[in-house]
Amino acid sequence: MAASIFLSDSPEETFRYGKRLGKKLETGSIIALIGELGCGKTLFTRGICEGVGVLERYVNSPTFAFVNEYAGKLPVFHMDLYRLNTTDELFELGILDYLRRVEAGIMVVEWAEKIIGILPEDYLKIEFQVLSLSSRRLELESVGGRFDKYLELPKS
Ligand SMILES: Nc1ncnc2c1ncn2[C@@H]1O[C@H](COP(=O)(O)OP(=O)(O)O)[C@@H](O)[C@H]1O
Ligand SMILES: [Mg+2]
Repeated sequence: MAASIFLSDSPEETFRYGKRLGKKLETGSIIALIGELGCGKTLFTRGICEGVGVLERYVNSPTFAFVNEYAGKLPVFHMDLYRLNTTDELFELGILDYLRRVEAGIMVVEWAEKIIGILPEDYLKIEFQVLSLSSRRLELESVGGRFDKYLELPKS
């Protein structure tokens, strides 16, 4: 499995990295974000959305639903599973329907470790580690191989 490491020294850098990735994303892409609260998953998602051309000013973690849908050059499905407790909820909330619809858009999942077992074979896994107040380590892994092309992004 191909992998790469990205070190970010500021929130802006994480955002810009997300934006560069967003510009490259094609339909069917699944980005699985993993890491503790405050590691930068939502900020990175905002960057992705900007890169995809989402015009909405506020890309925020879904609060009442588990999924927000934004219209960019492609549709972006932003899922945040922080409050997901049981796998039964996956069915109740229609999350599986989104996984079926992903070929028409881009899916970004925060707390993806909670559904890692039901994700399709191919997804880009990004694990965030907090190194200090302002620095983060992102480890990208192209699980399954389909998204290898997203691993090589210039740093700026
Ligand atoms: N290098 C960095 N990359 C991302 N976020 C950072 C970085 N340094 C500090 N931060 C801060 O960490 C927080 C990340 O918040 P957020 O993206 O909501 O995290 P999560 O969605 O993982 O809970 C923000 O307050 C941001 O300013
Ligand atoms: Mg978040």
